[in-house]
Amino acid sequence: MTQDELKQQVAQAALDYIKPEIQSDAIIGVGTGSTANYFIDALAQYQGQFKGAVASSEATAERLKQHHIDVFDMNEVESLTVYVDGADEVNKQLELIKGGGGALTREKIVASIAKSFVCIADESKAVEVLGGFALPVEVIPMARAAVARKLVKLGGQPIYREGVVTDNGNDILDVHGLKITEAKQFEAELNAIVGVVTNGLFAQRPADVLLLATSEGVKTLSV
Ligand code: A5P
Repeated sequence: MTQDELKQQVAQAALDYIKPEIQSDAIIGVGTGSTANYFIDALAQYQGQFKGAVASSEATAERLKQHHIDVFDMNEVESLTVYVDGADEVNKQLELIKGGGGALTREKIVASIAKSFVCIADESKAVEVLGGFALPVEVIPMARAAVARKLVKLGGQPIYREGVVTDNGNDILDVHGLKITEAKQFEAELNAIVGVVTNGLFAQRPADVLLLATSEGVKTLSV
């Protein structure tokens, strides 16, 4: 199976997993990226059978609207039963690195009000130690160089993602060379740097369930 086929397979598995939540008053949190896109396309078959969605990026909002799924401003929504999103890396504790697509801040915000976070990924994303995938850090543009210097002091090699502006109007630094063993602590440490909006570690709010597409089928993992 190709990676795309695995992504498609796990997106369908996510739909089966959350099916009990698809009810007329349900608002579903939807992530960003190619795996999340497959999920949106699969979810479209239930359009009209649930209230709508909260999107974690402008791109996701656009795709949902193309399927005539109502997109709600998060300020109008108190909580979500479920949030479904992909990841760039996931470890055994279901801690994640996200933000390869640049949507990390809104993803973290939407995940924060979800009762359950269902992560969907193909097996290439499963790792023993987080950090092989460069950790995205969203920064206020004027603070980019200052934050980069602090990230170097923390042992990383930040690279400015040139030409990319987030949905929030900010810059991204991709931090290479990290081996993240204490993810919760490191997430907090990075967020404490003045000028950092957020970072792509999802450790303080990890996934609750991981649906992992493998060549032997989709595995359901939780901690
Ligand atoms: C978007 O900003 C990311 O967090 C994505 O969820 C992550 O990069 C996974 O993307 P793919 O599903 O495209 O691999």
